Amino acid sequence: AGIESLGDLTGKRVLVRSDLNVPLDGTTITDDGRIRASVPTIQQLSDAGARVVVTAHLGRPDGSPDPKFSLGPVAARLSELLGRPVAFATDTVGASASETVAALQDGEIAVLENVRFNDGETSKDDAVRGGFADQLAQLADAFVSDGFGVVHRKQASVYDVALRLPSAMGGLVAAEVDVLRRLTESPERPYVVVLGGSKVSDKLGVIDNLIDKADKILIGGGMVFTFLKAQGHEVGKSLLEADQLDTCTRYLSEAADRGVEIVLPTDVVVDTAFPSGDREPQPSVVPASEIPADALGLDIGPDSATAFAAALADARTVFWNGPMGVFEVDAFADGTRAVAQALTEVDGLSVVGGGDSAAAVRQLGFDEGAFGHISTGGGASLEFLEGKELPGIAVLERD
Ligand code: 3PG
Repeated sequence: AGIESLGDLTGKRVLVRSDLNVPLDGTTITDDGRIRASVPTIQQLSDAGARVVVTAHLGRPDGSPDPKFSLGPVAARLSELLGRPVAFATDTVGASASETVAALQDGEIAVLENVRFNDGETSKDDAVRGGFADQLAQLADAFVSDGFGVVHRKQASVYDVALRLPSAMGGLVAAEVDVLRRLTESPERPYVVVLGGSKVSDKLGVIDNLIDKADKILIGGGMVFTFLKAQGHEVGKSLLEADQLDTCTRYLSEAADRGVEIVLPTDVVVDTAFPSGDREPQPSVVPASEIPADALGLDIGPDSATAFAAALADARTVFWNGPMGVFEVDAFADGTRAVAQALTEVDGLSVVGGGDSAAAVRQLGFDEGAFGHISTGGGASLEFLEGKELPGIAVLERD
């Protein structure tokens, strides 16, 4: 149920789990998309007169405080976006948290330090996690789950705390679930799925689940070289997951049996070394079947980009996860740019899922409003499309 199910929130302490896990370069936030996506719910609670206590994680610290992963810069950015002060507690459930929460007036907002500085947060031991969730729950009268990017994690601030407080789904989680259900339950056809990113092994579940739902699956990114190798091509020094070759072969034949088209690039952009600061990129385009032994593939080629765009042109539903190449380097960004552009022209529902693809469309200068939906979840949106039960959703929807 939504926030209104919590009743009058005036003066109530509301713990909000947001996903504020943003990329940082030192203390500089390089993409604040997740913070911006978290603002409406925080604002809504504040407008309702709640004393808003935001909890979130950053990175994967080892369960103890680590200044590299402090949420301090994130709290500062949140304050800028809200245009009002945001208090910051230097711990999650300690003295600073209690004092900061106790000092909140109605409508005021505080952010607690990285919840993963506490080993109870991610513990596999239910009792340990529960003990930590008890401490979090003491800071609030109600809980709002709004961190879509973490709903696939059975962690204290996502799952266990919802068992301990009156709980509701925030607007971001509700909107994400709504769109992703449209992708899994009766999508309009043609339904085209575009997959990229580095690893096949990260996408197995999605391919398994979508291979009989999608009409076409377009594959690019680092993961494509394992498919090309499975087709019998040499891939030079490109990324290869040798242990996934049989799986790729199976997908190619399964797709053929089911009438699903798996579209692989026919040309690729290669270089002789992975781009680094040391030298200028030296891109060249080669047929996907003729990658030289000393080269590695870093993007899909121009013919493939045109073919992918054409495959997307008449789609009514599109899900895209994972960049087509090393888009951070301009010389290898064209494939990702072409796919992003094609998505903006889809007449129907276009969904960009995954932290990397979402960051890519923003970094390449696309207007977010041109896409049907940009998911804030990477792993979470993939697991949703895999058909898995997400603990952070299930706990809110239990009877
Ligand atoms: C993400 O970045 O996908 C989410 O914030 C979840 O982070 P995690 O994979 O470290 O749990």
